[in-house]
Amino acid sequence: MPRISVTKLAPALGAEVSGIDLHLPIDEETLSALKDAWASHLVLRFRGQALTDPQLLAFSRLLGPLDPPGPNPYGKPFLEDFPEINVISNVKVGGAPIGNLGDGEAVWHCDMTYVEAPPRAALLHALEIPSSGGDTFWSNMYTAFETLPDAMKKRIAGLRAIHDATYNSAGVMRKGMSEVTDPRKAPGAQHPLVIKHPDTGRAALYLGRRRNSYVLGLELEESEALLDELWAHASRPEFTFRQVWQQHDLILWDNRCTLHRRDAFDPAARRVMHRTQIKGTPVAPAFEAA
Ligand code: SIN
Repeated sequence: MPRISVTKLAPALGAEVSGIDLHLPIDEETLSALKDAWASHLVLRFRGQALTDPQLLAFSRLLGPLDPPGPNPYGKPFLEDFPEINVISNVKVGGAPIGNLGDGEAVWHCDMTYVEAPPRAALLHALEIPSSGGDTFWSNMYTAFETLPDAMKKRIAGLRAIHDATYNSAGVMRKGMSEVTDPRKAPGAQHPLVIKHPDTGRAALYLGRRRNSYVLGLELEESEALLDELWAHASRPEFTFRQVWQQHDLILWDNRCTLHRRDAFDPAARRVMHRTQIKGTPVAPAFEAA
């Protein structure tokens, strides 16, 4: 296989990998170069990769054991033959959605942080895309932490928050959940606000998703104000990379040190993406509680 080349896509994060054909077997040297590029850039884009589902699964498995998708609102996998693949789509067949998240905005989030061991990574493969809209953004949570004022770094070191399991990023309630009226009682894992990345050892801001989040031990009002301040900081445009999709783009991202969101798009257009994710480990704090 020829040597890969890696080109930065935005100052904050994201790089394009070329010189690789993901249909072909990948040798150890190339895989190791890919992993190095991924650790440096957090989000990697591969263009022109018209992969079948088995090929998407085979490439994903090179990065670790797969983590099945979280429960979708409809209670069964979208692809019967490939339950490890999640479908992200607005398309309906016979009135039934073939995938998750519809055509509206998917708000900033990190995947499945409502569980103890959230996925370490995800891969999103564009099969059909609208002519405009539906762009996806990632934000760099190492930079978000590093650029906080020292007083804020000190304040949040040792704090933990609830990561609500009730709603997905499109605001749809997950199966079996009921409405949360008090974020202090939201169901979901509790994680440190600043985590130590298990591979790089770097500190990253770890926010999950804003809705129904609650910082343990604070008055509700104080928690809301702190979270609003952290979220405004974490989503600053200079920390982000914007992906304008082309058909057969494949994007791989690190789910421990990035957030992502997606723009809305024309409901009359078709957008079909297939997605896998890689199993993670329980999240560890960057700093011990004082
Ligand atoms: C997601 O949040 O995984 C979906 C992103 C997208 O639809 O681009």
